[in-house]
Amino acid sequence: MPHPKTVEEMSDCAGPIECELLPKLIQVTEAAAIAAAYQMGRGDKHFADQVAVAAMRRMLNKLNMNGVIKIGEGERDEAPMLYIGEKVGTGAGVDVDIAVDPLEGTNLTADGCPGSVAVMAMAERGGIFHGPDIYIDKIVVGPEVVQYEAEHPEEKLELDAPVSRNLNIVAKALDRKVQELVVVILDRPRHAQKIMEIREAGARVKLVSDGDLMPGVATAIRGSGIHMVMGAGGSGEAVLTAAAIKTLGGKILGRLVLPSVANGKTQEEIDAEIEEKLPRLEKMGISLQTLNEVMDTEKLVPGKDVIFSASAVTPGHFLHEVSLFGRGDARVNTVSMGSSGTVRFTDSIYIKDKQKTPLYL
Ligand code: FBP
Repeated sequence: MPHPKTVEEMSDCAGPIECELLPKLIQVTEAAAIAAAYQMGRGDKHFADQVAVAAMRRMLNKLNMNGVIKIGEGERDEAPMLYIGEKVGTGAGVDVDIAVDPLEGTNLTADGCPGSVAVMAMAERGGIFHGPDIYIDKIVVGPEVVQYEAEHPEEKLELDAPVSRNLNIVAKALDRKVQELVVVILDRPRHAQKIMEIREAGARVKLVSDGDLMPGVATAIRGSGIHMVMGAGGSGEAVLTAAAIKTLGGKILGRLVLPSVANGKTQEEIDAEIEEKLPRLEKMGISLQTLNEVMDTEKLVPGKDVIFSASAVTPGHFLHEVSLFGRGDARVNTVSMGSSGTVRFTDSIYIKDKQKTPLYL
């Protein structure tokens, strides 16, 4: 079906999840972001996470849906996470798969630094990769690269290709020189080699101390100044990136990797992690062999009716931080999107006492 053009046509082609749950999803991430914002700069990342989780869970459990967390921050034994496998919603209504990170960038919030968000994606049952809370090593790019690959089938990004080859493809797709590209990557010792290779190829590197999810989304937003994200980060973060990037027409390639392996730990530590995690991985249908398979956007988010919402806690690449006014009023910035192609930047103001609180521009 050709891409719809009018607002009416776009609204007609939105699926039931986008129609019914997207406005509510925005409020779910808003509630978590505002709760976390009260803990901004207080130095306690666990408590900031905990209040975001609690706010999110309260909001989610009001929604008429039969929701299941498919990927997120923690497993069942790591309360107070919205744990993988947890059922949320009233149980009545549509079946929904969920990827969640109630507070992406817990350190950033605790330290009052830019880049933290409350984030969630939903899709129909089977629409979101059911995976463990480990790492995914990935490449994320915007829609121009997808278009370029379609026109040049011999020039496709590959996760294991030399960094310079992939950068050349992205540069051609964006009609830029490699020197004009910006690649975001987490500042971790495990990325030292990759960072060197990106620099040797001539591209510019933006190191982030935490929070590689929103930079992935930004690769699909021209004007964000981010053209590519590389490197191993949280698997939940990667699936959430995949949900957003899919609705925006971009692309992600990724492979699950155990943190002990990615971080170059001893064989003993690697064996201990395998022993601890293998039973859970196998329950999810993942063996040590399939762990190494490269997954694309479709594998990570096969859903057709996908929605995504991210509300900023601290200032972001294209979102303002939460503002707290007197009397518990708050203002919160969100980017949300759905499979229909509709993207919204919302600026919500929650006024508790309409008589006493004027509205500021
Ligand atoms: P948290 O919010 O859970 O602290 O995650 C932040 C984050 O930096 C993610 O953005 C990133 O994908 C992951 O942690 C990287 O993990 P690690 O700190 O183990 O390298």
